[in-house]
Amino acid sequence: MTGSPTEQASHVFGCLHGMVRTAALYPPMHAQTVKAKQTLHDALTAYLSSHGRLVYRFLGDVLVADDRILPRESLLYRQFLAVCQNERQIGSISFMVGVEPREVDALLEAVTEGVGGEPSSWTSRKGLTHVRLGPPVQPEQQSGEATARRAYYGSIDALRDIQATVRARSPLAVEQIGTLRVFTSTLLEQILQSPALVLRLASIKSYDEYTLYHSVNVAVISIGLGLVIGLPETLLREIAMAGMLHDVGKIAIPHEILRKPGPLDEEEWQVMRRHPVLGADLLSRLPGSNRLPMIVAFEHHIRFDMRGYPSVPAGWTQHPISRLACVADVFDAMTSRRAYKKAIPNTDVRGYVRDESGRTFDPRLVRVLDLMLGRLEEETPEEDARGRTA
Ligand SMILES: [Fe+2]
Ligand SMILES: [Fe+2]
Repeated sequence: MTGSPTEQASHVFGCLHGMVRTAALYPPMHAQTVKAKQTLHDALTAYLSSHGRLVYRFLGDVLVADDRILPRESLLYRQFLAVCQNERQIGSISFMVGVEPREVDALLEAVTEGVGGEPSSWTSRKGLTHVRLGPPVQPEQQSGEATARRAYYGSIDALRDIQATVRARSPLAVEQIGTLRVFTSTLLEQILQSPALVLRLASIKSYDEYTLYHSVNVAVISIGLGLVIGLPETLLREIAMAGMLHDVGKIAIPHEILRKPGPLDEEEWQVMRRHPVLGADLLSRLPGSNRLPMIVAFEHHIRFDMRGYPSVPAGWTQHPISRLACVADVFDAMTSRRAYKKAIPNTDVRGYVRDESGRTFDPRLVRVLDLMLGRLEEETPEEDARGRTA
């Protein structure tokens, strides 16, 4: 079996879904049904022989395999996940080494006809030892923070994949943006339930992959700012996507400049200052995507007083969401450690942002940042948030 464990787990789930779909079309003993069951059994045996165990969890719209969200499969099999949880009372499927063909038969029966009560008693009634089913997890029992953290790291993976595509000078695929959108929506849902997550998630930093972690943090902080303003969920989702992609042009900038262990010289700085235009250009070539990420990528360094970069014609008005992203951008950049500077505590950053009110930042958004930090820091002491940095 080839590919990463996540790709392999995606493949096995595809076989499971394929078996269910085939069984809906053909009688139980039909050659197609028998073949689909055999395909799943073979895929499971191959996976388990190298990994020992495989656990799928269904968390609403989200499919998780061994603690990693499968974004593509979450979208593809959304209806199947809903049927399992709502009609069959199944919230998880675990496989252990030694799965027998008769256990695959029993699994097919469970996911197509239900288990008639507690999944665990059904498992023992059927005498299954290598396949276990668990009940659906009620939304209030799901650990919001664990789901949010999975979505955070899933966003990092999705951005890393986008980065590899950009660096290979290949066009971005709509599907890559779709994957990022699934993680972004999961993050948003969790933050809507528990706004205190904003500072806890945004305190996750990476020294080595600064740009990727910074992009997710800008999305998270932008959601926090948008929540304080009271923006609707649909707009918050677009704002978060714009945050994720605001520095996408930076990943086309050479490593030597991005990771230089010191301040940039004038020539390097000129290259770096091209990232808003590069990013907007990349995003403009994505078919059918929302325009907001492109606008924010282009405008997030323009500044409120229009003295930033790139230079724009007189009379240009910065989009309000670009102004919001600018606050989130600077806040995260200043609270992160870089090769040439230490992380600055939240309180000092607040002072800087207030000083720059009306210059770099829209004064109304400076007040919004103050309000957000005031509310959230009561729930998340700064020491606690910083203690989690990586
Ligand atoms: Fe930027
Ligand atoms: Fe940025």
